[in-house]
Amino acid sequence: MAIIAVAGRKGGVGKSTIVGNLAAEFAAMGRSVAVLDADPQNSLVAWAAQGDGMLARSVQKVPDSADTLRSRAHKAEKDADIVLIDTPPGMPEVGYQAALAADLLLLPCGPSPLDLFALKEALSWGLKARAERRSKKPRIRFVPSKVVMTTNLGRGLASSLKDMGRKVLPGIGQRVVVAEAVVRGLTVAEYAPDSPAHEEFRKLAKAVDKLLRR
Ligand SMILES: Nc1ncnc2c1ncn2[C@@H]1O[C@H](COP(=O)(O)OP(=O)(O)OP(=O)(O)O)[C@@H](O)[C@H]1O
Ligand SMILES: [Mg+2]
Repeated sequence: MAIIAVAGRKGGVGKSTIVGNLAAEFAAMGRSVAVLDADPQNSLVAWAAQGDGMLARSVQKVPDSADTLRSRAHKAEKDADIVLIDTPPGMPEVGYQAALAADLLLLPCGPSPLDLFALKEALSWGLKARAERRSKKPRIRFVPSKVVMTTNLGRGLASSLKDMGRKVLPGIGQRVVVAEAVVRGLTVAEYAPDSPAHEEFRKLAKAVDKLLRR
């Protein structure tokens, strides 16, 4: 039904965390989900291997080559309602190939000026992919990530992102349970279903789902 790529130039902004937890939210909505780990760091594969949660059943490794990513994504789309692609930092070609395959490109950004600078490059991959496809796809959305609402930078992140001219989806706060879930090999939906973190991922997934239906 849809391919969602999560990308960014910068490391550590929460790309893999968002992919894994969105996978769980879509599964909870009754969708079949495939997660493609296109990062040579194998973050999603390693996370899934820590436990026996839904990621252990959903994550597939894709070879460390940008060339095959698009065909793998379209193949996965035949068997799953939602295909999520996790991409590496600092490998523009993989981010670009993911953008060429995706219906929706999510660009997470943390509350640091350095994250905002790097976002411009990731945005350019999405825009270049649209030009190449002569299409409005991928749609592109920013996702505030690892937000600390007690800081000025955290509070101002969504409006800084809006100023960059793209729509902003509901953000994800910096919360301990998010990292704890990874240690158990679980998503937040499985590890801490009653937590505020789970509510944030649920809201983000709902907004993404609404967007995909438009
Ligand atoms: N919302 C959050 N709250 C707390 N910790 C988080 C959150 N999001 C991510 N983290 C932690 O921050 C670190 C980096 O997150 P993650 O691996 O998802 O980022 P990434 O963008 O995929 O990194 P890379 O670019 O290296 O692939 C991890 O230790 C992760 O557990
Ligand atoms: Mg990652």
